[in-house]
Amino acid sequence: ENIMIKKAILPVAGLGTRFLPASKAIPKEMVTVVDRPVIEYVVKEAVKAGITEIILVTHSSKASIENYFDRNFELETTLDNKKKYDLLAEITNIVPDNVKIIAVRQPAPLGLGHAVLCAKSVVGDDDFVVLLPDVLIKNSGVDHDLTTMIDRFNASKAAQIMVEAVPDHLVDQYGIVDVASIPSEGQSIVMQGIVEKPAVADAPSNLSVVGRYVLPAKIMALLEKTPKGAGNEIQLTDAIAMLQTTDMIEAYRMQGQTFDCGSKLGYLKAVLHYGIEHPTLGDDFKTMIKDLDLS
Ligand code: G1P
Repeated sequence: ENIMIKKAILPVAGLGTRFLPASKAIPKEMVTVVDRPVIEYVVKEAVKAGITEIILVTHSSKASIENYFDRNFELETTLDNKKKYDLLAEITNIVPDNVKIIAVRQPAPLGLGHAVLCAKSVVGDDDFVVLLPDVLIKNSGVDHDLTTMIDRFNASKAAQIMVEAVPDHLVDQYGIVDVASIPSEGQSIVMQGIVEKPAVADAPSNLSVVGRYVLPAKIMALLEKTPKGAGNEIQLTDAIAMLQTTDMIEAYRMQGQTFDCGSKLGYLKAVLHYGIEHPTLGDDFKTMIKDLDLS
């Protein structure tokens, strides 16, 4: 049980240009992987790590995300009258009762750093985690990456940045960390620097920032003075680089598998993997894949 970290910021205001045309009318976080929206997997990942306060940083066009986690009196009444109790339980128990979902708005698309800063008054003096909702993380077995990161933060007070190794041709799409040596999966190592979307020739390593961060409350004060950076946006990466000049930060190399549901192919991969493991649909889905004629 993580005693200290209870709050998670999920920036969901992005318009999802990588997922057009669907994201023209459906928030990319609401696209379903098997039978539930992407955002539910990310919220459940946070809840599993002991988070009880989910802060969505959202946009006026994406109210369906808040609605999904709210109660729906009309639907519940209808299901109750029809005695469809299984479905009723399914839609009312998406997150446990002790988990609160809070929404704040990001009024203008000024970058990920700005989105996190929009949650400042809700976070207050508490340390927190950030989960970027495009990426799903699947941990098989007992080890749960986000829990490990929170435990390490609680023990050392060093901010934890989740990373994974990526091929050279992808380093310019991510935040990249500078470390003295490449940690093995499941290890944390002192971070010596971090840079947003470097050219491969300038990249300090091939360890990319996955989109899971454990951060101290004081990063908010640094975000307030972070100038616009890559893409003319206020970058979380730049505030973390500033924090690193005064505080120890660790890069945590994840053990699980990532699925980038913000990209179309990553999304299809997620559907395959979560589909075959689905408790009721998985076996039939596997048979369907085996029976595909790919010639
Ligand atoms: C953001 C971060 C980047 C990180 C990436 C992970 O970039 O700025 O450091 O590696 O998420 O998905 P974005 O994908 O929003 O451009």
